[in-house]
Amino acid sequence: MGHKKLVRFAAIETFPNVLQYPEGMAGKWAEFFGNGNELTLELACGKGEYTLGLARMHPQRNFLGVDLKGNRIWAGARKAIAEGLKNAAFLRILIDGIEKFFAPGEVGEIWITFPDPQLRTGKAKKRLTHPRFLRRYQSILKPGGKIHLKTDSPNLYGFTMKVCAMYGCNVLDSTDDVYAQPQINDELQIKTYYESLDIAGAARVHYVCFTLPQQLPGTELDALLQQQLFEDEQPAG
Ligand SMILES: C[S@@+](CC[C@H](N)C(=O)[O-])C[C@H]1O[C@@H](n2cnc3c(N)ncnc32)[C@H](O)[C@@H]1O
Repeated sequence: MGHKKLVRFAAIETFPNVLQYPEGMAGKWAEFFGNGNELTLELACGKGEYTLGLARMHPQRNFLGVDLKGNRIWAGARKAIAEGLKNAAFLRILIDGIEKFFAPGEVGEIWITFPDPQLRTGKAKKRLTHPRFLRRYQSILKPGGKIHLKTDSPNLYGFTMKVCAMYGCNVLDSTDDVYAQPQINDELQIKTYYESLDIAGAARVHYVCFTLPQQLPGTELDALLQQQLFEDEQPAG
């Protein structure tokens, strides 16, 4: 591992706004932030541009960036400390186990920002909007809590729209070209590091905002979803 990464890993150990695989945090986030304000998560936060941007916009809410990569979290956490942003913090975990870190209903809203699109159909279960993940989010999200996905991947956007249709999610807003809209709200104008890279080469940013149904269909439907993906999706290189 490079020297820079080691230095950053050592630094986040000492940062008061970074928690790494903490134990016993479910139900304790109000205590952590020192207030009972609503909690919003940014999943796949990387350097946490949404966590910081939203925290600056909404001082009366709390924001938590979630990612596995400590050296990326370091960048966002360092900025939050430098700016004195008390309503922004970071959680270093694998999102696959996120339900262990929050009590039911403890999360008000979720942003998923430019997650890895996992283009291979065989890896669809790793997409952060796969029903396997939506069930985890449902167990921590308050009823009616919004989930926002911002992505440069037309594939992930199409997949998420398909999941919403199959699993009874309520799509509140969607666009396959955010910046072509006549009016773009301030939240959607926050730009992330990966957004600037335009890895998908589509030169367009896609966005969908949805809520979950009261009860998501069971795992039996996941096999049908996977079968349809194998029929629909172009093989990725
Ligand atoms: C393409 S980057 C996007 C980072 C940032 N949101 C941006 O737009 O610049 C995707 C991030 O998701 C994180 N990630 C992907 N799957 C994850 C998982 N299952 N658990 C935790 N982090 C994950 C990666 O570590 C990476 O930092």
